[in-house]
Amino acid sequence: MIKAVRGTRDLLPPETALWNFVEAAARDVFRAYNFQEIRTPVFEQTALFARGVGEETDIVSKEMYTWEDRGRAASDKGQSLTLRPEATAGIVRAYIEHQLADRGLNKLYCIGPMFRRERPQKGRYRQFYQIDAEIIGPASAGSESPARDAELLEMLATLLDRLGITDWNLQLNSVGCANDRAQFNEALRQALAPVQDRMCDDCQRRALTNPLRVFDCKVPADQPIIETLPRISQFLDEACRTHFEAVQAILKKVEVPFSLNDRLVRGLDYYTRTAFEFTHGALGAQNAILGGGRYDGLSEALGGPPAPGIGFAIGEDRLVMSLEEKTPAESVMPKPDAYIAPLAGMNGDAARLARALRRHDLVIELGDDTFRLKKSFEAAARAGAKYILIVGEDEVKADAFALKNLGTGEQISVPRADLARKIQG
Ligand code: HAM
Repeated sequence: MIKAVRGTRDLLPPETALWNFVEAAARDVFRAYNFQEIRTPVFEQTALFARGVGEETDIVSKEMYTWEDRGRAASDKGQSLTLRPEATAGIVRAYIEHQLADRGLNKLYCIGPMFRRERPQKGRYRQFYQIDAEIIGPASAGSESPARDAELLEMLATLLDRLGITDWNLQLNSVGCANDRAQFNEALRQALAPVQDRMCDDCQRRALTNPLRVFDCKVPADQPIIETLPRISQFLDEACRTHFEAVQAILKKVEVPFSLNDRLVRGLDYYTRTAFEFTHGALGAQNAILGGGRYDGLSEALGGPPAPGIGFAIGEDRLVMSLEEKTPAESVMPKPDAYIAPLAGMNGDAARLARALRRHDLVIELGDDTFRLKKSFEAAARAGAKYILIVGEDEVKADAFALKNLGTGEQISVPRADLARKIQG
């Protein structure tokens, strides 16, 4: 028996109804903020993530699914390819490749699977899904404005509220820019020098190559040391500080609550200035439902024009998990409005009636004329149909059909022309 690969899973009905519910709500909210959909490939050149996300990050150094794609002919060069561990690098690559800068400010969203070779556990998978949104464009189009940061965060609060997830917590930080990062890295290196040999191997390496990444460390023994390290908040330059204050001021105006967390650096190297995560109590250790931030230098790092941007990715698996407590999947799964039960020899007429009713947007389950009526009733009840509609020779002749409400037991004869209206109730 061949089973699904560890860390991957099948999403089955009725749970998929909840996934659709979440995605439909997200698309609705995106429409209200004038975001457009973008779809990028699930695999890209490995170099995109090495340069975009950063060689020293856990994602790139440990978690990517990478393979050498052989050429099909001798003239065809092989290349290193990677299943996308996140969406932002691919979207910025597409932004550069298709000169989306010419359109001014781009507000893009993307829903799809991402892949990371992490240790699987509840809320953490090797194939997981993100609902990702990005605002990116030339600074002249306003992409650098704190108004965009606040708008994106307010949009997230709106989406979570709309889904009925109320007990979220927005953690906010500014991780500064290239300007202040140099000083901060220097201060971190100095602070790490006397203590790093007491830290884990990863941290000893990070202390040399990319000290900021020490904050990603999850080794319990290292935490008391990390607690004593300097914070980026003490090193923000004037422009970064003003930007961060402006973001907070707008959030207060639009009444989106947040807490400042100056340990929050996020596990990807492209971040500048605003960085954030939304957590949710119900999720335990994997409590970040979503994360994101600004990445003002990413386009240039990938060989593109300056294009400040900000975005987020919701972990859809985790969002659905938080929802499940309050909204059972069954409650959002569409049920048949009617089950059509054809009597012997009536499959054709039943199909004709089903076709007509489905054109009225009704959900119709179509039975089979070999079923005894009793079996059709059982099938209709199992499907959760509201009505059963009987199609026999007499009904077709009279052009009126027996329609029984399976909830109340009431049965009436309804002319063909009135059926859709009657079923719609
Ligand atoms: P990230 O924090 O790496 O950010 O991932 C965003 C969210 O994806 C997490 O908060 C979590 O809910 C979910 N997630 C991550 N890994 C897993 C996993 N193994 N299993 C289940 N869920 C997971 C990014 O990916 C950035 N690209 C976000 C962004 C967009 N920043 C700017 N624009």
